Amino acid sequence: MKISVVQFCPIFGDIESNKKKMIQYAQNIDSSIIIFPELALTGYDFKNKEELSQYAFDINSEILSEFRDIANNSDKIIVIGFPEKEGNNYFNSAALIFPDEKFNTTYRKTHLFYRERFIFAENNKGFFVVHYPDFDLNLGTMICYDWRFPEAARTLALKGADIIACPSNLVTTVWDISMPSRALENKIYLAVANRTGTENRNGENLIFNGSSKIYSYNGTILSQANYDNEIVISADIEPKQTRNKSFNEFNNIFTDRRIQFYL
Ligand code: ACM
Repeated sequence: MKISVVQFCPIFGDIESNKKKMIQYAQNIDSSIIIFPELALTGYDFKNKEELSQYAFDINSEILSEFRDIANNSDKIIVIGFPEKEGNNYFNSAALIFPDEKFNTTYRKTHLFYRERFIFAENNKGFFVVHYPDFDLNLGTMICYDWRFPEAARTLALKGADIIACPSNLVTTVWDISMPSRALENKIYLAVANRTGTENRNGENLIFNGSSKIYSYNGTILSQANYDNEIVISADIEPKQTRNKSFNEFNNIFTDRRIQFYL
């Protein structure tokens, strides 16, 4: 199974042009899973909740209809970061769009980074894994700053994830010290779709660091992007290979856990 990550620089507030670019990628990339960055359709640094409210939408919105059609017609799973509206709450979410739309859902970012806490609500649905039977695939999702919490990836792995999609707008470069460990210690694939470029909207420059990566379940890099270019990176994965958590006759990274000693 081939998976791809699209790294690009969204234009703040320009859903139409971001969408046009993303639709072309979604149409042309011949992969079973295509992952776009966090808040890929809108850009990242909203000034306040009022501004965010003008851009937020829900997963059934017309804005996502072409992605739904591509997923359905071309048998692809598409993961897209977007600002999700539910009543008066806004979530920093990822839309998980499947060929069979009854599986469509959103993951809502659990750990809110920096000023996000003033405009977004925290995840109220928990971590979950979608088993997509047609691909025999278990897909988990976390978003960007969730990486700082090993519990996020561990929870997804314990819930059966074969791969974690991680749409991101990373502004540090230290994440790739941790990310391979999340893959290795959980024996899962991990795909980080980061954005590039800068946004100067709230009196400071946010610089996004690109360097998107797809990690194998042993922590090695299968494919990687440069710091600042628009690029698609891809890798072949074998989801079933992640499911046996034993690494010798006597040890298994899940059943060897001594949870009575953990906080
Ligand atoms: C981040 O969570 N966007 C750094």
